Amino acid sequence: MKKRILTGLQPTGVITLGNYIGAIKQMIEMQENYESYIFIADMHAITVNQDPIVLRENIKSLVALYLACGIDPKKNTIYIQSDNPYIGGISWMLECNSYYGELSRMTQFKDKAKKNANFTSGLLTYPVLMAADILSMDADYVPVGVDQKQHVELARDIAIRFNNKYGEMFKIPEPILKKVGTKIMDLQTPDKKMSKSSENQKGVIRLLDDIDVIRKKIMSATTDSEMVVRFDPENKPGISNLINIYSSLTNKSIEEIEMEFKDSNYGNFKSRVADIVVDVISNIQNKYNEILNSDYLDEILDSGMNKNIEISKEFYQKMKKVIGLGRN
Ligand code: AMP
Ligand code: TRP
Repeated sequence: MKKRILTGLQPTGVITLGNYIGAIKQMIEMQENYESYIFIADMHAITVNQDPIVLRENIKSLVALYLACGIDPKKNTIYIQSDNPYIGGISWMLECNSYYGELSRMTQFKDKAKKNANFTSGLLTYPVLMAADILSMDADYVPVGVDQKQHVELARDIAIRFNNKYGEMFKIPEPILKKVGTKIMDLQTPDKKMSKSSENQKGVIRLLDDIDVIRKKIMSATTDSEMVVRFDPENKPGISNLINIYSSLTNKSIEEIEMEFKDSNYGNFKSRVADIVVDVISNIQNKYNEILNSDYLDEILDSGMNKNIEISKEFYQKMKKVIGLGRN
């Protein structure tokens, strides 16, 4: 039997070329080897302020974009967190078995609370909702970046504690640290990672950017004065970043690329990188538009919702019973 993995995605902002190369390609590999569940963590998104109209739009858009990138709905169960009426109740039952002390010590909470002193109580209990996502889907593994590893470890602690108090209920999940693949850097400030939340739009390529804008962003990427297409991240971060992008999208090695462009100037090189990026992204955008405007998307989300509810409802009922809630 295949092991079960669970991935949660927050529907905030349009994903970048960095996300595509760094994370989605890895998910596409993993869908072959695991029973995979992917969900949109919209209830996590509202732990900080969100514009309701933008949030609602981002949810289906993000699903369509992942499908367009190659996430296969036959190999993944895909659902929206808030479509499940049990998850809030499960989270509450876990909250009453978690401690203020451990939650207030979480690194992400401390960072976010420092930035905005007016934080919600949801920001504090965020990791418990995450534990509810994981435990109520009986996940074996949770692929995460380093920033989320501590939350998966807390989910383990909560599961062990619950099992000890009320009898065997939850599987103890394990975090899988995502491979640190090629890090794509900001096109304008190539010593910084290309990030969804970056202020300077010119340095970041988003998968739903206008194609002409994408080309312009690449053509105006920061380079250096050496005028040689050579991989040297320390001294030539801009050119090395473009080589990495080209290499990731064509599967050519760095040596091959250096050879290919040994007689080219930066303008020619950038223009080839732009061709490839535009080619990949316009393909994704075409599929995205097709999916977003079809009934297919709702069919996938309905079937994911039903499976998610079926599994977690059973946990909800068993948890209520052992805790002593409700009627006999
Ligand atoms: P974020 O959008 O920052 O929450 O990142 C989601 C995932 O995308 C992370 O786990 C990273 O693996 C990946 N990722 C984000 N930005 C980049 C980047 N610039 N280069 C490579 N991978 C990235
Ligand atoms: N907190 C995660 C993030 O911001 C998203 C998430 C919510 C999640 N619930 C999850 C990830 C459960 C893995 C498992 O990236």
